[in-house]
Amino acid sequence: MTQPKHYLQFKDFSAEEYAYLFDRIAWIKAKFKAYEPYHPLFDRTLVMIFEKASTRTRLSFEAGMAQLGGSAIYLNTRDSQLGRGEPVEDAAQVMSRMCDVVMIRTFEQEIIERFAANSRVPVINGLTNEYHPCQILADIHTFIEHRGSIQGRTVAWIGDSNNMCNTWLQAAELLDFNVHVSTPPGYEVEPERAGLYGTSHFEQFADPLEACRGADLVTTDVWTSMGFEAENEARMKAFADWQVDAEMMAVAGKDALFMHCLPAHRGEEVSAEVIDGPNSVVWDEAENRLHAQKGLMEYLLLGKVEA
Ligand code: CP
Ligand code: NVA
Repeated sequence: MTQPKHYLQFKDFSAEEYAYLFDRIAWIKAKFKAYEPYHPLFDRTLVMIFEKASTRTRLSFEAGMAQLGGSAIYLNTRDSQLGRGEPVEDAAQVMSRMCDVVMIRTFEQEIIERFAANSRVPVINGLTNEYHPCQILADIHTFIEHRGSIQGRTVAWIGDSNNMCNTWLQAAELLDFNVHVSTPPGYEVEPERAGLYGTSHFEQFADPLEACRGADLVTTDVWTSMGFEAENEARMKAFADWQVDAEMMAVAGKDALFMHCLPAHRGEEVSAEVIDGPNSVVWDEAENRLHAQKGLMEYLLLGKVEA
């Protein structure tokens, strides 16, 4: 069996593939905005497996596949045999004989890797404990729309060194920008878990204000990710000084953007003033999940397409 192309983490694609993809996403978005039907994935089926909750990921994949002419099927652990112990390898064999592409949101990265190793069709990571590549694809597209190329720019990551943070760090290595990370003590980046080749594209700061100084983009995420709920109380205390607020945005500079993958907790990781303020692009960012994943599915299924 020839191995299909998967998207399990950000570094699965090269910088050259991202350059193609960002152009392609812009083209697909413009067509959609002009109400011009575009059905390159007519008759194709996407299966979406959710082992964790979702609003944006489900909606953007399901709507995106329909808009490209295909259809999408939603499965979750509760209602499928996956929740009753069917081996992930067996599920992959079966599902990939019935559909054309699979998206999975699950816990350990190892689960999606085992699925992909047994799949005849492309597998997309819709979030794991370690990575959230579809979100960073949309986030960087959003940055490009507002500010041009991200190469050489500085992103400040404030808060937890979670799946989002790890993926920003992989993207920085690939697309040659810098990430200033500030986490509370005990929650620092683990380069190996982040899947990094080195440490040349990020710097850790004890003080979140210093991490934001001069940044082109300030971004954060929930203090407690899905699957880590048992740590919530300890995290609320540990992260109390890592709220992105107006003072942090002020040192970043007047043109600095604010992003958050959502869902957000105003008054915890970000103040209402910042997320609802003039530098915030969170709604563009959320919308771009749709366009970015349409570009991604087209690329995985059809390869490079002439505009
Ligand atoms: N940002 C994101 O992945 O949102 P959902 O959890 O709603 O899918
Ligand atoms: N880091 C968060 C992102 C949610 C979209 C989580 O994993 O729960």
